[in-house]
Amino acid sequence: MHTVSTLADLRTTINAWKTAGERIAFVPTMGNLHAGHCRLVEVAKTKANRVVVSIFVNPTQFGIGEDFDSYPRTEELDQAKLRTLGTDLLFLPSVAEMYTPETKTVVSVQGLSDIHCGASRVGHFDGVATVVCKLFNRVQPDVAVFGRKDFQQLAVIQTMVKDLDMPIEIIGVDTVRETDGLAMSSRNGYLTPEQRQTAPMLYQTLCQAKTEILAGYDYRIVEQHAITTLQQAGFQVDYVQICRSSDLIPAQIDDKELVLLAAAKLGKTRLIDNLTL
Ligand code: PAJ
Repeated sequence: MHTVSTLADLRTTINAWKTAGERIAFVPTMGNLHAGHCRLVEVAKTKANRVVVSIFVNPTQFGIGEDFDSYPRTEELDQAKLRTLGTDLLFLPSVAEMYTPETKTVVSVQGLSDIHCGASRVGHFDGVATVVCKLFNRVQPDVAVFGRKDFQQLAVIQTMVKDLDMPIEIIGVDTVRETDGLAMSSRNGYLTPEQRQTAPMLYQTLCQAKTEILAGYDYRIVEQHAITTLQQAGFQVDYVQICRSSDLIPAQIDDKELVLLAAAKLGKTRLIDNLTL
């Protein structure tokens, strides 16, 4: 595996591959890689003959008071994992390499970026869309692979690619979970042992809500029941919402393709999860 940190070095390899007619799959990450990220790389390998992974803790998607400074940075371990997975190229830029102080352009997927996680993390999805757009322009992939765990993020990226006519196929990969159901996340490492015991309740509550939906209960009653269950377990609930998976708007009774979206905090740790129906 080759590791590069500058756009110039990245371009040299990408241009050589493009000239040789190679197909490129790309997996953007913020590092501290776990089995969820590894799954994305495995899927990427099935979609192209070259796999590029980026590790960049993107400051513009963190709000004031969020965990940008404390976000786990484990580059050496990450590099070893990526090597084992057969990654061809790791792009590991610095903040200065990604953003100049004169940067004036922001990519914003309107509407979709302002609801759910975007309502409590104002500007977060603009930061995500902008950095992913820049990474796409740098890596020029044919395919890019994202996790369904970040369901709203995936929707934002799919919309951006469609609206801006980017010739990139976006692949969504199912959430990889711990054996007790907790969705794997770099932020799980922030949990105290006691919070870690409680954390799987988020997924269990979504599974219970799915059962209630299938039993024909009113969506808003199901949402309220899930919120109460989580609050009683010690979560500070941001939202639990049954939405249309196409546009993430709250679902009505005759909507067909649904997703249950949830975000809740245990102490200072914000957890998100979702379940499609
Ligand atoms: P990060 O949180 O590192 O996640 C990188 C990718 O891994 C995302 O596509 C995310 O959805 C996926 N992922 C995380 N946990 C997963 C799990 N348990 N199962 C399956 N996939 C999982 O998401 C970001 O970084 C950033 O916002 C980024 C897109 C890199 C832009 O900065």
